[in-house]
Amino acid sequence: MTTHTCCLILPAAGNGTRFGSDTPKQFLPLAGRLVFLRCLDVFQSHISACVIPTNASGKPIIEEALAQESFPFPIIVCAGGKTRMHSVAAGLEHVPHTCSSILIHDAARPLVTSDCIQACQKSLHTHTACVVALPSHSTVKYAQGTTVKKTINRDHVYFAQTPQGLEYTAGKKAFAQAISENWSCTDDAEVMERAGHQVAIVPGHPHNIKITTPEDWALAENLVDK
Ligand code: CTP
Ligand code: MG
Repeated sequence: MTTHTCCLILPAAGNGTRFGSDTPKQFLPLAGRLVFLRCLDVFQSHISACVIPTNASGKPIIEEALAQESFPFPIIVCAGGKTRMHSVAAGLEHVPHTCSSILIHDAARPLVTSDCIQACQKSLHTHTACVVALPSHSTVKYAQGTTVKKTINRDHVYFAQTPQGLEYTAGKKAFAQAISENWSCTDDAEVMERAGHQVAIVPGHPHNIKITTPEDWALAENLVDK
């Protein structure tokens, strides 16, 4: 499996409820460049195709932005779904058949690094699924309401980021099962876990934050290369 056959799915169908802007966060300019385009900038030397699931209001924004760009691979814009999992499943339907590996990356994570991408691609040579993640530096409490029930051994705790990688055939099958059985998974690795695959952890990057709240925007502005 080589990087030449790798397709990126960039889910961009969310409305950014927690962020709270009129235009979804992935379509806002961060230091002068739209957040989702910043993702494509980092991925461009590593992939051979890209699928962007989005919603009716996102489609014209993406198409207008891409008309000014010349990325060296085909970009397919498709309809997303009601959850991130549904959007990724929809994206998988549009992956070119020449692609044998898939990377999925949140469109709201513009500070991804080439190292994270390459680590995923390398992991997919030996694993069916992988996730970039950071080890926990904090003590982790399991609670019910506001009462601590347990302290989790943090040596076993990681914070998942994206990209997350899938071997195409196994990924397609796992997502089909997830949709038909109505699973509610918050990331791609969870879909693969539930489908019975081993998911490898590869090193993430502390700057690879997901823009979720307005506080994250301020952080991203400080971290981005201006
Ligand atoms: N996403 C998607 N389809 C959905 C929901 C989310 O493609 N139905 C995408 C978002 O556009 C984002 C990524 O999944 O790039 C991560 O999701 P999140 O940060 O939760 O974004 P939103 O769902 O837009 O934000 P919120 O949960 O605050 O509404
Ligand atoms: Mg969401």
